[in-house]
Amino acid sequence: MLNNILNTYHSYLQVLFERKNKIVLILVISLIGVLIMLPVPILVRYIIDDFIPSGDLFGVLFCCGAILFVQLSGEGLNYYFSRYLLRVNVEFKTAVRQLVYAKILSLKHRDYESFGKGDLLVRATRDIDSLVYLIPRGISEILLVILKVIIFSTVLLWIDYQLSLILSVFIPIAFLFYRRFDKPLASLAKDVHKNYAQLSSRLQEDVDNVPDLQANLALSYAYKKQNIATVQYNNSTIAWGFCNQKLTSILTIIPSLILTAIWLYAGFNIVQGNMSLGTIVSFMYVLALLYNPLDFLFGFYARIQSDLAILDRLQTLLSTVTDYSGSQVVDSFSKIDFDCVSICYGEKAVISDVSLAIRKDDFVLVQGPSGSGKTTLLNTIAGFYDDYKGAITVDGEPFQNISYQAYQQLIGFVPQQISIYEDTLKNNLTMGKPVCEKYLQQVLETCSLQGFIDVLPDGLDSPISEKGSNLSGGQRQRIAVARMLLRRPSLLLLDEPFNHLDAQSKNKLMLALIDYCQSGHTVIVASHDESWPKFEYISITMRGGRVITYD
Ligand SMILES: Nc1ncnc2c1ncn2[C@@H]1O[C@H](COP(=O)(O)OP(=O)(O)OP(=O)(O)O)[C@@H](O)[C@H]1O
Ligand SMILES: [Mg+2]
Repeated sequence: MLNNILNTYHSYLQVLFERKNKIVLILVISLIGVLIMLPVPILVRYIIDDFIPSGDLFGVLFCCGAILFVQLSGEGLNYYFSRYLLRVNVEFKTAVRQLVYAKILSLKHRDYESFGKGDLLVRATRDIDSLVYLIPRGISEILLVILKVIIFSTVLLWIDYQLSLILSVFIPIAFLFYRRFDKPLASLAKDVHKNYAQLSSRLQEDVDNVPDLQANLALSYAYKKQNIATVQYNNSTIAWGFCNQKLTSILTIIPSLILTAIWLYAGFNIVQGNMSLGTIVSFMYVLALLYNPLDFLFGFYARIQSDLAILDRLQTLLSTVTDYSGSQVVDSFSKIDFDCVSICYGEKAVISDVSLAIRKDDFVLVQGPSGSGKTTLLNTIAGFYDDYKGAITVDGEPFQNISYQAYQQLIGFVPQQISIYEDTLKNNLTMGKPVCEKYLQQVLETCSLQGFIDVLPDGLDSPISEKGSNLSGGQRQRIAVARMLLRRPSLLLLDEPFNHLDAQSKNKLMLALIDYCQSGHTVIVASHDESWPKFEYISITMRGGRVITYD
């Protein structure tokens, strides 16, 4: 079982294991904090059994001073220590977040779609923030609790073994009660996290689409959908809370039973003169110290469920394969072949039995009615899908043998849905990479962006709002094309790049793409546009997911 856990949660546990020294340090300091307090019950016993009966006021004073000193030292240690704990916690959660974030950025198309944006957001933020026990502080807390139980039980045994035996009778009873709640709590914790992610996805979708919802007078539609997700989340939270509360309430009976039994036994023995008052007072003091760790251990399985549900969610993401098996590194290609390639969404084939060959220096025009599979074909060429049927080869090498990351270096893809980032215009074009100034100017001219930039007060340094909301559709389109041209990919894929362009900009871009192809690159354009200048190209016409003409 341990092996199974280690394998399943490998990458998360690795981040945890890298901090093993910190975990041990936290444990040692916490242990010192516990040991500091141990003389207190012994001092109490001396006060009650020796100094008070003998009227030794100095002894009483000395013991009280010592108790105060011990407690203040404990608090002082606690103060500085909690600052350290906070830092370790934040640092650990940041490391996990970076791991999750890196994985999200490298997700392949289909996995990205299947997780959903809101859900990914929750995994990278709230899920990690909600971890309580499976973090360095939590791990050392668990170890400390075990040590506390051992230490305090030993002290109790030392103070009075008969009272300790009474206590030990109740331990299996409490344990059995907790076990009954294991399974329902585990499944309810999973529901809470899943429903929260769904609620967050809904919110994200609606926030993204506020102008559209308003324009369509669809606010009540949005409220209704939001309401369903909210009710689901609330119900699961309440169900989890009720189950937890039931367990807590049942278990408060057990300490009451223990206390009654101990007082009965001790009272009887004190009356008989077989036990001193100091013994029962110091026993109760240590019992009070033992109560929390014991309660923690019994309820541990229930408490850990939320963390385990989160870990499960994180690991589902972290274990998603992002570099598809292939180790073959490609840095150029002469020919990409499709042999009877089909792509399905569920049972539905959206492209079927597509066979074609794309050579270096080819200009391929993919045409066909809406929904005929143009975008899907471009996505497949870009390597977004690994679950195609048929065969794809790059220079004869099966696609699955090729490193996806290496293949991506060859590809530049301007998708149908443009992405613009909240940053400067220049960073939106270069994506933070250094570019040759002369080439940049050339690309800006090609994409008809120069005139637009010239009138901006800060030129290329002008800020662009989130999702490019301060740009026109055509400007966004031209920025996306320019961004890809700047990368100079060997194979440039463009999905409907002329959608928002005026006739002049469109013609200019068409000529620039032809030119780009003639300078030793491959260009594939999916477009409804028929007004291309005369030049040599390969035409693919699609209908219903099939290639119907290819010449
Ligand atoms: N994520 C998806 N899940 C299920 N079906 C999908 C998905 N994406 C696309 N499809 C379906 O695949 C078919 C081809 O879609 P695709 O986007 O490739 O068409 P297209 O030719 O690019 O259309 P358009 O010209 O409108 O952009 C469509 O019937 C579409 O409904
Ligand atoms: Mg399309």
